[in-house]
Amino acid sequence: MATDPRVTLISGGARGIGAAIAAHLAGRGERVVVADRDIAGIAAPVGVRLVRCDVADEAAVQSLLAEVTATERRLDGLVCNAGFMRRTPLAQLSLADWRSVLDAHLTSAFLLVRAAERLLRAARGSVVMMSSTRAHMSEPDTESYAAAKGGLLALSHALAISLGPDVRVNAISPGWINSRGETLTPADHAQHPVGRVGMVEDIARLAAFLLGPESGFVTGAEFVADGGMTRKMIYAP
Ligand SMILES: NC(=O)c1ccc[n+]([C@@H]2O[C@H](COP(=O)([O-])OP(=O)(O)OC[C@H]3O[C@@H](n4cnc5c(N)ncnc54)[C@H](O)[C@@H]3O)[C@@H](O)[C@H]2O)c1
Repeated sequence: MATDPRVTLISGGARGIGAAIAAHLAGRGERVVVADRDIAGIAAPVGVRLVRCDVADEAAVQSLLAEVTATERRLDGLVCNAGFMRRTPLAQLSLADWRSVLDAHLTSAFLLVRAAERLLRAARGSVVMMSSTRAHMSEPDTESYAAAKGGLLALSHALAISLGPDVRVNAISPGWINSRGETLTPADHAQHPVGRVGMVEDIARLAAFLLGPESGFVTGAEFVADGGMTRKMIYAP
């Protein structure tokens, strides 16, 4: 007897890294629900269902999980991937702007996991948090983003302890991923120890591993996927 396909919910999966994870999972026969606040003009691949949802909004997340429960009846994976970056000098960073970044990345992850806990426990599921190497290192004027990404790492290990052994929780910290199709120079590639800038598929394959049973002994861990950049010692000339 055929078993029902696994179901994964991905926040911020309408484009970029989240969309690549959705396409990768759907390509191996799994079902995916993408929750994104901006789905206008987005065509989802077969197996991926788009839902408009601001995952920083508590009521919207509750409605989302009620809909997933009613429609899919199971949830095996959750990828907390939504968010955006502000580059604002500290003196000009308003409290509202600070909170909007923390809410999109970090509070949304709390809201999603809390609302999905029952389904995830029932499925012995797996959660992936999309952090960043910016949780560990910074450019100027990125305080809200760095704080949100650092918070996601801490939230990951806290949840791994609270939800184990039913649910595993891990974090991916991507480095530079060309999620927007930028034009890249040879120097952009060459500065990476692996010789190239990252692709969305690099993160999709890692997320799929962490969501699936092959990573069954892994929880509370951070996986840095940055082409070696955070291991590179730089002495300015
Ligand atoms: N691209 C990189 O180099 C890189 C590096 C490290 C970490 N990341 C992280 O990976 C994730 C995906 O990055 P990306 O480059 O694909 O970004 P992206 O901007 O292409 O996609 C992010 C998606 O999140 C959605 N989103 C933002 N706020 C939302 C909210 N409140 N509710 C619902 N949807 C919301 C956006 O609409 C968008 O579709 C982000 O968390 C980002 O911080 C990216």
